[in-house]
Amino acid sequence: MTAAERAATRQQTRIDRLPPMGDTLLDVKNLQKFFPIRGGLMSRVVANVQAVQDVSFSLKRGEVVGLVGESGSGKTTVGRSILRLIEPTGGEVIFNGVDITKLGKGQMRDYRREMQIIFQDPFASLNPRMTVSDIIGEALQIHNLHAGKERVERIAELLRKVGLVPDSMRRYPHEFSGGQRQRIGIARALAVDPSFIVADEPVSALDVSIQAQVVNLIQDLQEELGLTVLFIAHDLAVVEYICDRVIVMYLGRIMEVAPSKDLYTNPKHPYTEALISAAPIPDPTVKTKRIILEGDIPSPIAPPSGCVFRTRCRYAIPECANVVPELRMVGPDHFKACIRDDIL
Ligand SMILES: Nc1ncnc2c1ncn2[C@@H]1O[C@H](COP(=O)(O)OP(=O)(O)O)[C@@H](O)[C@H]1O
Ligand code: SF4
Ligand SMILES: [Mg+2]
Repeated sequence: MTAAERAATRQQTRIDRLPPMGDTLLDVKNLQKFFPIRGGLMSRVVANVQAVQDVSFSLKRGEVVGLVGESGSGKTTVGRSILRLIEPTGGEVIFNGVDITKLGKGQMRDYRREMQIIFQDPFASLNPRMTVSDIIGEALQIHNLHAGKERVERIAELLRKVGLVPDSMRRYPHEFSGGQRQRIGIARALAVDPSFIVADEPVSALDVSIQAQVVNLIQDLQEELGLTVLFIAHDLAVVEYICDRVIVMYLGRIMEVAPSKDLYTNPKHPYTEALISAAPIPDPTVKTKRIILEGDIPSPIAPPSGCVFRTRCRYAIPECANVVPELRMVGPDHFKACIRDDIL
C-alpha cells in the first residue's frame, strides 16, 4: 500500500470526524502575512514586515512536502498561518474542502485536532514545569479524548511509538536529552490522532549525530499513520531524503516547486541552483562549482521590486525589476517563478 492509500483507508475509519473531501487535503491560496511595525506617538503602523506574500500550493493526502529556504524566507510564518497559530493577513487555507480562515473559534476546534505542529526547538517548546504525562495529555484533555485510565494507556502507547519507555511520563523535560525531548514533542503532536502535521525544522536544534534517528522516526510514523506532512527545513539533504515534493521559498515568495529528485538533479530557478551548490557534498570526489550567494537576504520591509531575488541573482537582467514573475510550469509537476528560460 502506498502512503496515499494508507491515508485514504485511515480517513475512512475517521468518517465520524471530518469526512474526506477529494484527494487534496490542503490547498493554500494567495496566503499573505504582514507583521505591522508601529511607531510615533500615536503608535500608528509605519511599515509592514512582508513575511509571506502571495503563496499558493496544495498537498495531497499522504504526501510529504518540503518547504525550504534560507532563514528569514517566511517558512515558519507559512506553517503557523496554515494552522492559524497566527492569523493570516490575506488568502485562503482550504483544509479538507473548507476555508478555515473564515471559521470561528468553536468551528475551528475540529480542525485544530486534525492539524498539529512539531516545533523547531524542543528546549523552548516543552513547559519545564509540566510532567511528560501532562504535556502529552494536554491536547487529549482539550479535546475530551481518552479519560482516566484510558488516557494513561494512550500516553504510554504514544511514548512507545516514539521510542521512549512509558515510565518517562512521570518525569520532567529537563531530565531528557535534546533528541528525547523532540520525541516527546512528536508524541504530543500525534496524541489527538491528526491527519496533517507541520514539522518546523524538527531536527535543526539537535546534534548532527542524532538528527537522522529523529528524521527516520518521523518518516516511519508518517508511513504507519498515513500522515500528510509539511516538512520545513533549511538542510536540503534531509528534505531530499524524506520528501515527495519540495517548495523553495525566498523572501516570502515561492521560487520553485518540483518533485524532490527533479529539484536536486535539475533545478530550474537560480535561487534553487545556488542553494543546492552551497549544500555540503557527501561525496568529496564529486566536483561541482560553488555559487556563492552574495550579500544578505534583503529586508522584508522593503523587498526588491519585480523578482525579489534579483539583487542576488547572477542571471538578473533589467527586466527582472519590472514584473513579479508568476509561478509557471516548466516540466511535469515542476514550476518556477523566473522570467528567463534561456538559463538552467
Ligand atoms: N512576530 C513577528 N513580528 C515581526 N516580524 C516577524 C515576526 N515573525 C517573523 N517575522 C519576520 O518575518 C520574516 C520571516 O520569518 P520566518 O517565517 O520566521 O522565516 P523562516 O522560518 O524562513 O526563517 C523574517 O524577516 C522575520 O524577521
Ligand atoms: S526573474 Fe530574473 S532575477 Fe529573478 S530569478 Fe529569474 S533571472 Fe534571476
Ligand atoms: Mg523558521
